[in-house]
Amino acid sequence: MRTQVTKAIFPVAGLGTRFLPATKSVPKEIMTLVDRPLIQYAIDEAREAGIKEFIFVTSRGKSALENYFDHAPELERELRKKGKDDLLHTLRQTNMDSGAIAYIRQHKALGLGHAVWCAHRLIANEPFAVILPDDVIAGEPGCLRQMVDAYADTGGSMVATMEVAPDQAASYGILDVEDTIGPLVSVNGMVEKPSPGSAPSRLAVIGRYILAPSVLRNLRNQKSGASGEIQLTDAIAAEIHQGRNVFGYRFAGERYDCGSKAGFLQATVAFGLGRDDLRKELTAYLNEVIAIRGVAQ
Ligand code: UTP
Repeated sequence: MRTQVTKAIFPVAGLGTRFLPATKSVPKEIMTLVDRPLIQYAIDEAREAGIKEFIFVTSRGKSALENYFDHAPELERELRKKGKDDLLHTLRQTNMDSGAIAYIRQHKALGLGHAVWCAHRLIANEPFAVILPDDVIAGEPGCLRQMVDAYADTGGSMVATMEVAPDQAASYGILDVEDTIGPLVSVNGMVEKPSPGSAPSRLAVIGRYILAPSVLRNLRNQKSGASGEIQLTDAIAAEIHQGRNVFGYRFAGERYDCGSKAGFLQATVAFGLGRDDLRKELTAYLNEVIAIRGVAQ
């Protein structure tokens, strides 16, 4: 039987420069979509997929993130006293079991691959998941659950993938596709941030991974790649050259790039419209804005 995936690494040590000045003091992962921080969406997706151990790779200035996972007994007491049971329930859902979270420091932002490598001592010889919280994926079941189910049949390593427009390819890791069977893509190679016109396909790697422990060994010897950073994509591509299987998984669901301002705003609108308590008011507002813009043009 295949080893179950019970550990997930959340690399959250990036500088978040696209959201400056906000990220000067607020970690990107704490920024809220409607009323929940990005990290909460990532944690919920991981729990749904059967993850039991949550490993955060953090850096200086991320203490708000660590505090977020502490229990809040005074707040809970106050809500209980006031009979605000719904809020109490919401708050309790964010509580994590003692010992379920580990924090590792990445002392310098040397790239995503380096951040993942920083957690290697907490991963024994077992497969593990990686979740980038700034890729928010709305899906039922969640993207990682879909991947864990597919991985039970395939083994190897697996990356979430979706089609992007050709002019977007240079911002992503891109798959060199051997074959496609339903949502599964067998992969010949991967290129991080291909130069314009050289992308081997339109299938981009999105921030969900299930990785074989050998990827960590590859990372140990990894030199910097695209953008001068130690790239996770390169260490996964090395798996293929070493004769191990790598798959892409075309997940069902909507992905929002919350690492970019436009993506974050789109996600805010989409998640707002998805909420029963906000839909009516937000729809009326959006219709009004569109109507006013239409007249002005
Ligand atoms: P990004 O490429 O979005 O970089 O990282 P960033 O620093 O977060 O944001 P910008 O581009 O400056 O605005 C993708 C993921 O990898 C993590 C980030 O925290 C994010 O979850 N990361 C990146 C690290 O943990 N360490 C690094 O050295 C680089």
